[in-house]
Amino acid sequence: MNDDDDWTDAWRFAAEHHHGQTLPGSELSYLTHLGSVVLELLAAHVVEPVPDIELAVPCAILHDCIEDQGVTHAELASRFGVRVADGVAALSKHPALPKAEAMTDSLSRIQAQPKAVWCVKLADRISNLIPPPAHWDAAKRRAYREEARLILNRLGAAHSGLAARLRTRIEGYDA
Ligand code: NI
Repeated sequence: MNDDDDWTDAWRFAAEHHHGQTLPGSELSYLTHLGSVVLELLAAHVVEPVPDIELAVPCAILHDCIEDQGVTHAELASRFGVRVADGVAALSKHPALPKAEAMTDSLSRIQAQPKAVWCVKLADRISNLIPPPAHWDAAKRRAYREEARLILNRLGAAHSGLAARLRTRIEGYDA
C-alpha cells in the first residue's frame, strides 16, 4: 500500500470512529479538529521538513481515537503498523491518572517516541489554542495556557516552525 492510501485509510477510519463526536461547545464535527492538526503539520512541513512526515500524518489523523473512542493499540497496530499505534498510544492520556499527572505522563511517553510524534502534539495544541468554549472559566483558561507552555518547553525542540507558531498562539490566548 502506498502512503496516499495509508493516509486516506486513516482518515476514513477516524471518520467512522469519531462519527457523532463534536468539538467541545460546538456543533461542528470532531473531524474539524483532526483536519486542522494535519494542516498545521503539512503547512509547517512545506517550510521546514517535519521529521518522518509519513509517520506524523497518520498519527495526527488518529491521535484521539484511543483516548476518545476506545480504539485499542492492537487494532491500530494491525491496521496501520506498530509505529503509528505506539505514537497514538503515547499521545493518549492515561484515563486512570489525575488530570495534571496524565499530561506529564503522556509528555514523557511522547519524548520516548520519534520526533514526528512530538510534532503531532505541538500541532494538536496549536490547533486547540483557538478562542476557548464559552463555558470555560478564567481558571480553566489559565491552566490550559500553562499546560501549553509545558508542551512547548518539553517538545518545542522537535520543529522550530511549529514551536514558534505555538509560542505565538500562547501569547495571544485569552486567559
Ligand atoms: Ni487533539
